Amino acid sequence: MSDLRTTVGPLTFKNPILTASGCCGYGLELKEFFPLDRLGALVVKGLSLKPRDGNPPPRICETPAGMLNSIGLQNIGIEAFVNEVLPILEADGIPVVANLFGEEEEAYVALARRCEAARGICAVELNLSCPNVKKGGIHFGTVPEAIKALTAKVRQVYTHSLWVKLSPNVSTVVPLAVAAQQAGADALTCINTLKGMAIDPLTWKAKLHTTYGGLSGPAIKPVALRFVHETARAVDIPIVGCGGAATALDIVEFLLAGARAVQVGTLLFQNPALPVELEEGLRAYLDERGIPSLDAIIGKVKTHA
Ligand code: FUM
Repeated sequence: MSDLRTTVGPLTFKNPILTASGCCGYGLELKEFFPLDRLGALVVKGLSLKPRDGNPPPRICETPAGMLNSIGLQNIGIEAFVNEVLPILEADGIPVVANLFGEEEEAYVALARRCEAARGICAVELNLSCPNVKKGGIHFGTVPEAIKALTAKVRQVYTHSLWVKLSPNVSTVVPLAVAAQQAGADALTCINTLKGMAIDPLTWKAKLHTTYGGLSGPAIKPVALRFVHETARAVDIPIVGCGGAATALDIVEFLLAGARAVQVGTLLFQNPALPVELEEGLRAYLDERGIPSLDAIIGKVKTHA
């Protein structure tokens, strides 16, 4: 049987299927559908220092082959997460990646410090890419110097795996990826959502309260693949793919593009058991072809050039 294990820097996951931040809260509801330890790792909703209510509704709408969201980083806050949720996840034996969001640099540093002290978090993922908030997040994620400064500050206080989640809402990603690597990131997540808009043609109203939101789902998979491929060739640290994976063959595409793991998000709303189906489908794909392990396909896309 093929070996589905993958490594992301110093971490080894039993398979490359991870949840994407924001699409399953803190993972607890997924337990109804499959044992959480079937996942490679669980990436939780962006956590801030204090609880946040997020943006007013409507803050989600469906689009062709995707979804727009403008949640505004609603979350229970780091203390409630660490004290109330983390012990449950730890008992489930699932590697937990904490996605962190702050309005200023100091908040990211304080969050990372809290994660350093907490048991049961294997990595933090700096959210420098949420397009739905007025302050913080993406403001640190579109300028290489800002990414570098923030990542370096977090690196000073956080000794475990440090991932940086990049935004596709930029004209070129390579300088951002390089900046994160230079500042000590252990891995990059590509990509967050693409900023978009939907309008109700009958009422003439923007469908989201905030007018704009982040587009996710299969509609953005080609963009995500491009970002994974470009960054994987530009840096030496591992890439975690994210953006519209819906089938085992999509996972294969992300691996071929250079991702060492793939986060699954929007499609969980349609099928919460999807991660298990992807894992089984990926295993069948590898077994049928006699591919012994993921390293035999990661980054092996054949281009025409
Ligand atoms: O609005 C939101 O909560 C989205 C977060 C993100 O895209 O990181």
